[in-house]
Amino acid sequence: MSRIKIIDTTLRDGEQSPGCSMNLKEKLEVARCLERLKVDVIEAGFAISSPGDFESVSEIARAVKDCTIASLARASAKDIDCAWDAVKHAADPRIHLFIATSPLHMEYKLKMSPEQVLERTAEMVRHAKRYCANIEFSAEDATRSDMGFLIRVVDTAIKNGATVINLPDTVGYTTPSEMRALIESVMQAVPNSDKVEFSVHCHNDLGMAVANSLGGVLGGARQIECTINGLGERAGNTSLEEAVMAMRTRPDLFGEDTTRIDTTQIYRTSKTVYNIIGQTAPLNKPIVGRNAFLHESGIHQHGVLSHKRTYEILTPEAVGIKVNNLVLGKHSGKHAVDSRLRELGFELTAEELQEFFEQFKALCDKKKDVTDADLIALVTHSATADDDYDGGYRLNWFAVHTTNFTSATCTVSLKKGDETYQEACMGDGPVDAAINAIERIIQPVEHTFELYQINSVSRGQDTLGDVHVKLNSNGRTFTGHGLSTDIIEASILAYLRACNKLSEWSEKSKEA
Ligand code: KIV
Ligand code: ZN
Repeated sequence: MSRIKIIDTTLRDGEQSPGCSMNLKEKLEVARCLERLKVDVIEAGFAISSPGDFESVSEIARAVKDCTIASLARASAKDIDCAWDAVKHAADPRIHLFIATSPLHMEYKLKMSPEQVLERTAEMVRHAKRYCANIEFSAEDATRSDMGFLIRVVDTAIKNGATVINLPDTVGYTTPSEMRALIESVMQAVPNSDKVEFSVHCHNDLGMAVANSLGGVLGGARQIECTINGLGERAGNTSLEEAVMAMRTRPDLFGEDTTRIDTTQIYRTSKTVYNIIGQTAPLNKPIVGRNAFLHESGIHQHGVLSHKRTYEILTPEAVGIKVNNLVLGKHSGKHAVDSRLRELGFELTAEELQEFFEQFKALCDKKKDVTDADLIALVTHSATADDDYDGGYRLNWFAVHTTNFTSATCTVSLKKGDETYQEACMGDGPVDAAINAIERIIQPVEHTFELYQINSVSRGQDTLGDVHVKLNSNGRTFTGHGLSTDIIEASILAYLRACNKLSEWSEKSKEA
């Protein structure tokens, strides 16, 4: 089987799902991870959807050199012009345009007849082709489209210059055998289908996105559209880590070296994305969940001890999880930290390493043993902490008093530029008191508190507390993440970061 290309749409389909919005710095960090992961194409956003999306697509186009960079566009000249403007500086730009082809979508959403959809397809593929050689065309809701009509649309797109034909299962409705048959039938019926690449884009509403994508591959698709951790609209998209590892684990079905993905970067990328959106992997999530490689039952443990392959079809090392848990501590030097980070898949520049080493030393003062889990949490956290927002507040110090028979009180001191602010508040517990004090200082834009979640990074009572906060303002979510051995400090940092993002966004919206 020939190479399967992986297009990652975490920054477009993933980011447009509720609670997953990212700022520019976070999107750039994800794009860098995707480049290291060696995805073939990064769908960096939907340029026309907002000035922020336009900016992030063009910044990613300039920054990333080793992947094709695509922007999504509806089949309209304005969308396509904007998509091109955003991707034109990329080493290898792509315009991805789409139009719906199912009777339901054409009648109720587009209010267009099938003939009008055909005409628009021809016209807009031609329009995009004037700018860019690499044109992906998607027939939205392909799996609920009439086969005869779908064939005519695909034929039209190819005749007018599309180089990639994507048949999305937009609502997660199809099954693996149907997806296989769909790709086979369209490829068979459309002249010159061998001159273009066929692609699948599956949603996970019935939990079959990965299986359906693999069905598409068996039918002849040579591109799978995926997201990290399966993020995406509603129940999400095809999970990149699952689809890639399925093909890697079954060369008998999919061939050797089917993708160019560096699978050892999977865990790092997954963790970075989860950190940014304020989530953690479900324990039993395939490939990246905490339990994915654990064997609890006696029978399984005995089997694995006798021969790993009795119950292990893939190794944690293959996806970048190191299991020997070498412990570092305050006597470990920079070189030891650097080499452990490299083994874990993190290559830092000299400057990043110096900064990281200082954080590591500070952690060693609070925590005797620093495990791999601590290192990974610290390194992925510092890559995405948005402390460089100039207009933001920073924690100066805090003091908390709490008992089990009175209200808690917290005094918080914050800095913004050269100014220092201080407030003390009571609350229903120390976190509430701290948040009340912060709110009194910064008087943030009106919002609701959607999520407060605390996880321990490793075992033991001196573990790092990993706090995720999610705020909602006018339907948009803002996440913050804080890491500390002191859970009140981690909570304050997480809340402040979310508030800073909210203020940054609200200031930008006023300017726009
Ligand atoms: O789900 C879908 O159909 C899409 C297209 C725009 C590719 O996301
Ligand atoms: Zn989609």
